[in-house]
Amino acid sequence: MSAEIIDGKAFAADVRRKVAAQVARLKAEHGITPGLAVVLVGDDPASQVYVRNKGKMTVEAGMNSFEHRLPAETEEAALLALLDDLNADPTVHGILVQLPLPGHMDEANVINRIAPEKDVDGFHISNVGRLATGQKAMVPCTPLGCLMMLRDLHGSLSGMDAVVVGRSNIVGKPMAQLLLRDSCTVTIAHSRTRNIEELCRRADILVAAVGRAEMITGAWIKPGATVIDVGINRIPAPERGEGRTRLVGDVHFDSAARVAGAITPVPGGVGPMTIACLLANTLTACCRAHGLPEPEGLTV
Ligand code: GUN
Repeated sequence: MSAEIIDGKAFAADVRRKVAAQVARLKAEHGITPGLAVVLVGDDPASQVYVRNKGKMTVEAGMNSFEHRLPAETEEAALLALLDDLNADPTVHGILVQLPLPGHMDEANVINRIAPEKDVDGFHISNVGRLATGQKAMVPCTPLGCLMMLRDLHGSLSGMDAVVVGRSNIVGKPMAQLLLRDSCTVTIAHSRTRNIEELCRRADILVAAVGRAEMITGAWIKPGATVIDVGINRIPAPERGEGRTRLVGDVHFDSAARVAGAITPVPGGVGPMTIACLLANTLTACCRAHGLPEPEGLTV
């Protein structure tokens, strides 16, 4: 048996097309342009790449992109003051502070300073609580993208056994909440989970978000299961030449693809969906700010 490969790149391009079409309509019918502010503190190279891509795709979707780059030694108070300004700015509908922040800053304090209705990452304590209690929330982008792909593949997820490996605030916990909201029976597994392999083998839906290269192999997977690999790990690839590396997920793709029914590859699976969902969330935030209907097919 060989799994269907879920084409996250094509899926994300479709989401971005939908966003762009609805942005164009907002402009034409209401004279409103959604705006996304991205704040980067410090010069982490990976974060710089993400922020550049976010800015580029925001503009491509027809939205305004505002970038704020602050030096690594910026005082937390200065960052909070910038967030207050962005919160008050009516041209800014979404605010994202790129993580991780420099060690001298209190991440929770910074995130909770963002106005919840502009918190397009869905990390504000109010959005976390809203998601957990079934109220209208801003939903974290990566889990939102995973859920969109799962719904597209299965239609209803009701009654399915879902195992989420990883308990981060960014992916694992909100992913579990979304699956629970869609009536899955959800288990969160982590580094201290006993019999993790056996547990994973019971999953109809297995979401891997642990950040450990190729930890989950085909032996962990129930035949026919859907495997969503959120991991992005860089490992040495001497076969490509000295000092070369390659990207792999948390799932050992080749062995998993022989057992699973469907699987997301790395790269080209979940990754492209994250930015697409960020754009979708920015559009959603803009519509809500203006009392307009939610964008179609882009929220859950
Ligand atoms: N760093 C890694 N992932 C993310 C994310 O989803 N949002 C933000 N703001 N920072 C990140």
